[in-house]
Amino acid sequence: MEERFITSTLNRRDPAKENSLRPPNFAEFPGQNRVKEQLELFVRAARERDEALDHILLCGPPGLGKTTLAYIIANERGTKLKSSSGPAIEKPGDLAGLLTSLEPGDVLFIDEIHRLSATVEEYLYSAMEDFFIDIMLEQGAGARSVRLNVPRFTLIGATTRQGMISAPLRARFGLNMRLDYYDTPSLVEILRRSAGILGVELEDSGAEEIASRCRGTPRIANNLLRRARDYAQTKEDSVITGPVAAAALEMLQIDRDGLDEMDLRILEVIISNFNGGPVGLKNIAVSVGEEEDSIEEVYEPFLIQRGYLTRTSKGRVATPRAWSKLGIRRATDENTLFDVK
Ligand SMILES: Nc1ncnc2c1ncn2[C@@H]1O[C@H](COP(=O)(O)OP(=O)(O)O)[C@@H](O)[C@H]1O
Ligand SMILES: [Mg+2]
Repeated sequence: MEERFITSTLNRRDPAKENSLRPPNFAEFPGQNRVKEQLELFVRAARERDEALDHILLCGPPGLGKTTLAYIIANERGTKLKSSSGPAIEKPGDLAGLLTSLEPGDVLFIDEIHRLSATVEEYLYSAMEDFFIDIMLEQGAGARSVRLNVPRFTLIGATTRQGMISAPLRARFGLNMRLDYYDTPSLVEILRRSAGILGVELEDSGAEEIASRCRGTPRIANNLLRRARDYAQTKEDSVITGPVAAAALEMLQIDRDGLDEMDLRILEVIISNFNGGPVGLKNIAVSVGEEEDSIEEVYEPFLIQRGYLTRTSKGRVATPRAWSKLGIRRATDENTLFDVK
């Protein structure tokens, strides 16, 4: 295992691996209690009235269970789900094709919905609201539009970028849910379930170790479990104990607080090169050699949530916690410490 670990790699989608670990219903989906309660209520109400569900928007960092929840919602409502994504729906015609293939009550899941083109998004409005779309046939002088009725469907949109959802689109969702990082007990539960499915022996202390160092993210927890299993196999009994898990995490250069090499580099760049900030995203990305998108979606939210970073109108600022994490004393007047406007 010489491979360098970075979180953006471990948090990459891999449907082949992930589908087997997806809980099929709310009961087997630990954590996100507030979101889960609301969704359960919402689904039950629709089922009892025998109505289609209203449209649902799921927001939050990658790997927290948005796609999983979309499938659970369809499953619990007893409908089919058709899946697509923002970038895959290139033209209004693609959207029309998708919509007209649905049966009444079906769920249309659009992942990365913030990446829909503005044109396609406009067509989506009338579909969501009034269940029709006006499609233009031919261009120029012969142009005419044809109204296509679409069945009463439920749109479930998922996004890692709530801020990039336009106001008109957002307004058309009946329910807007934000997923947050998981607490350790929920992650332990997820890990136990995954270990059962993968046929891995996982001790409580091993589960705790992984759960507390996986950035509150189930996808990363599951991937770390696989890495720990590989590591355990080199030992005699293949059991993931606390020390085995700790050693595997050590090899991946994940520290006690769950920060990886890239997290530390980001903090170091802000502190050493920009005296703690504020510094813009572009500068950080260039300095650490990672894509802006993955810094913004994967690294930053976690660093902010753990109190290492704040986002100001002038850029990113390292907090006192980040300075002490890196063991660097700030060489300025005490009074101007974190004088952030
Ligand atoms: N609450 C949960 N319980 C169990 N497994 C989960 C949970 N949330 C996510 N997972 C697992 O983590 C992986 C990533 O989840 P996914 O729904 O694809 O995340 P997202 O769509 O938000 O990026 C999947 O294998 C999924 O089964
Ligand atoms: Mg997803």
